[in-house]
Order: sequence, then C-alpha cells, then structure tokens
Amino acid sequence: MGKKKKRRREEKDSGKSYLVPDFGVLASLYPSFEPYVFYSPADGSPKINWKDFNATRQLTSVLLLHHHSLTWWIPDGQLCPTVPNRANYIHWLEDLLSSDIIPNYHRDQNIVKGFDIGTGANCIYPLLGASLLGWSFVGTDVTDIALEWAERNVKNNPQISKLIEIRKVDFEENTSNGESYSGPPILVGVVKTDEKFDFCMCNPPFFVTMDEAGLNPNTSCGGTPAEMVCPGGEQAFISRMIEDSVQLKQSFRWFTSMVGKKSSLKNLTSKLREVGVTVVKTTEFVQGQTSRWGIAWSFIPPSKKIVSSHVATKNILTFMLEGIHRQFCAFHVLQSVESFFKESGASCKLNTASFYIDVISSDLHFRITVFEQIPGTLLVRGSLKPGEIVVPGLLSTIFLQLEDALKKEFCSGKVSTHLLDSNHA
Ligand SMILES: C[S@@+](CC[C@H](N)C(=O)[O-])C[C@H]1O[C@@H](n2cnc3c(N)ncnc32)[C@H](O)[C@@H]1O
Repeated sequence: MGKKKKRRREEKDSGKSYLVPDFGVLASLYPSFEPYVFYSPADGSPKINWKDFNATRQLTSVLLLHHHSLTWWIPDGQLCPTVPNRANYIHWLEDLLSSDIIPNYHRDQNIVKGFDIGTGANCIYPLLGASLLGWSFVGTDVTDIALEWAERNVKNNPQISKLIEIRKVDFEENTSNGESYSGPPILVGVVKTDEKFDFCMCNPPFFVTMDEAGLNPNTSCGGTPAEMVCPGGEQAFISRMIEDSVQLKQSFRWFTSMVGKKSSLKNLTSKLREVGVTVVKTTEFVQGQTSRWGIAWSFIPPSKKIVSSHVATKNILTFMLEGIHRQFCAFHVLQSVESFFKESGASCKLNTASFYIDVISSDLHFRITVFEQIPGTLLVRGSLKPGEIVVPGLLSTIFLQLEDALKKEFCSGKVSTHLLDSNHA
C-alpha cells in the first residue's frame, strides 16, 4: 500500500472529522449505505444521488455513526441536516466561548450549558455538541413529531443522554400570518427562572412560505412547513428572539442564531443596537455553494482587555480550497500547513484528531483549522489566540501566502477567498 493511502486510513481511523466521506469506503463499512452508492461512468468515483432523500438521510446517519459514534434517524420528510454545516456552527460557538470576550460568570461550573431553540426531530446540535465537546443542552421544540424523535435520538445514545433535556414549548395555536412573529414562545416562558446558560443557538424557520423555501433543486434534505416556515420568516423569528433576550439578559452569556439570508443581517444588527446590546458578532458559514450566516449578541459588558486590543483587527480569517485532487485529503493539507510555517522558523503543534495546528512565532500565536465542507472542498480557518495583539494586516498577509501555496499544491481549479471579519464588536 502506498504512503498516501496509508495516511488516509490513519486519518479515518482517528474518527474525528468529516474528512473522508469517501462514499466507497462508507459503503463497504456500512451495508445500509451501500445501495445508495453508484460509480461514475466518467471517472469511476463513488457518488450518491443528492436528490434522493433516503440517500442523504443514510449519509447523515453513517457520518454521525462513523465520526461520532452516534446512533441517529429521522422519519420521512423531516429536515435532514448536513453534518459539516451543523458542526461549523458548534465550532463557531466554541470559538466565541473560548475567546472570553464575554466573561464566564459561572466559571465554577466546568460544564458548558447550551439552549437549542427548535432542536427538530434530528436533534443535531445537542447530539454534536455533547459528543464533540461534552456540552449539556436543553433542546426545545413545538411539534409532536420533533419532540418524539428528538427524545428517541437522545435515548439511542446512552453515552451522552444525561447531557440532553428535550423540552416541549407549550402554546396555543395561532393562525396569524402577518409580518411580525406571533407563534409559540421562543425564550420567554420556556427558559425557567434561575436557569443560566452559556449560549442559546437556533436554526430558525428561514422562510415566509414553502415556495420561498424553494428547496434546493440539487439536493433533497426534506423539511416540513413546520420546520421551514413561520409568519415573517427568519427576520420575524430572530426579532422575537431579540425582544426575549432583553428580558433574559442575565440568563445567557451569548444569544446566537443562524441566519439564512445575508440581507437579514443588517436589520437584525440595527435592532440589536436599538435594544442596547454590548456586543454583536457575525460570521459566515460556507458549505460548497451555500452560505449561511451566524449572528451573536450579549448584554454582558465585554472584558476590557479584549475590547481595546481587538476591535480594529480581524481575528478570524478563512479561505476555501476547492477542486482538491482526489488523492489528497485534509490530513495532507494540514501537513503542508505545518511545513509552510516550519520553513519560516515558527514552531507548530499538530493536533490530528481535531484537525488543527497551533502556530507560534516571535510575532504571532494562532491556530489553523481545516474543515471538510463537501468532498474535494476544504475550509481553512486561521484564528488568533484570544488576547493576541498583532500588527494590523500581518495575519491576512500570511494567510494570502498560505492560500497561494496550498492552491498550487492541492487544487486543480480556482481558489475562492473569503476573508471574514468576525469582530463587529
Ligand atoms: C429549521 S428547523 C431546525 C431543526 C434543527 N435544529 C436543524 O438545525 O436541523 C426549525 C425547528 O424549529 C421548531 N420551532 C418553530 N418554532 C419554534 C418555537 N417557538 N420554539 C421552539 N421550536 C420552534 C420547528 O418545529 C423546527 O423543528
């Protein structure tokens, strides 16, 4: 067996990332997935039909089993999550919490507590957060089917089931279809008195109508009206979250939500300023051709050190590597990142299980993490160590050089750059 193949196997056996959704390998390991895999007549590569809900559901199920030892299922038609996209949100929360921008006011408790609004039948965020990071969760929902299946998905994973509570949102049916949110309670009336959480998270119903949802013709991820739609869409839903957050200022360190349309960010940010938040942060989640955004806010005064040193500096930069040659995987990219920095005299600490490298030089201390978005596409993210003060532009200059070097080594096609400023403090 050649050197590269051996490396690939080692990487898979580390069992931690989404790095080899090599459908052929997954099919040979999991007989339930095998019927959905076919081989391209053009180049013989294993593929699935992304328009087949049964295939995407099986893929999610085997990825969760293969990488996270999670037993998972949803009934026909319910929203089927893409694992890398959901994991990106969890990793963003991890960065927010570890940045210490908002101090941890219950530091004595060493378990992170999250609140997942609309956990869905798939219960994906609590399952990933608990298995990846040992976080505990309250996951809420309104529909019987979501509550029943979320419970089932928790019970089927006894190794983490004690970390997750599924909570029913009580409400009376409302038939309004106006612009503003008039549906079931979201936070106020659901969060109990004296409960404290490190964060809330939400993948809200993005759309006003199912037509607007327009379900991507290239994939079939299911999604019922109860999951995809609410009066006023995401704008109204997140606005209600903001109103609720004013009443629950002290109950959460961070309030966060996924946002489906970039155009919603501007209004939501203005609304947040109006209600007097101390911090607003946004980010972009890129997955293949699809982008989603994250918005986070807090009412707790940020730590002074962070405010003074970071306001004007980009502290997270990302770029995409697309069209990666088939023989390469994220592990090879990580190794190349390591050589790149070692050649310039920096010291590097490689963590192959979590696919990051800590880079320490005389000027900088930062982390490079590699995420697989879809087969052949990687997201490379560089983040400064919390509290690090840098010469403005230094990190982006290094990052451009790194992008160029990786592109030359691994990609057949273009490289698209997304420099993200996650510091809208
Ligand atoms: C887009 S789905 C998200 C499901 C899952 N979190 C995911 O990311 O795949 C939105 C979910 O929010 C639920 N929902 C709608 N209004 C809600 C409310 N007021 N409180 C809690 N859940 C709600 C829906 O039933 C649905 O399960």
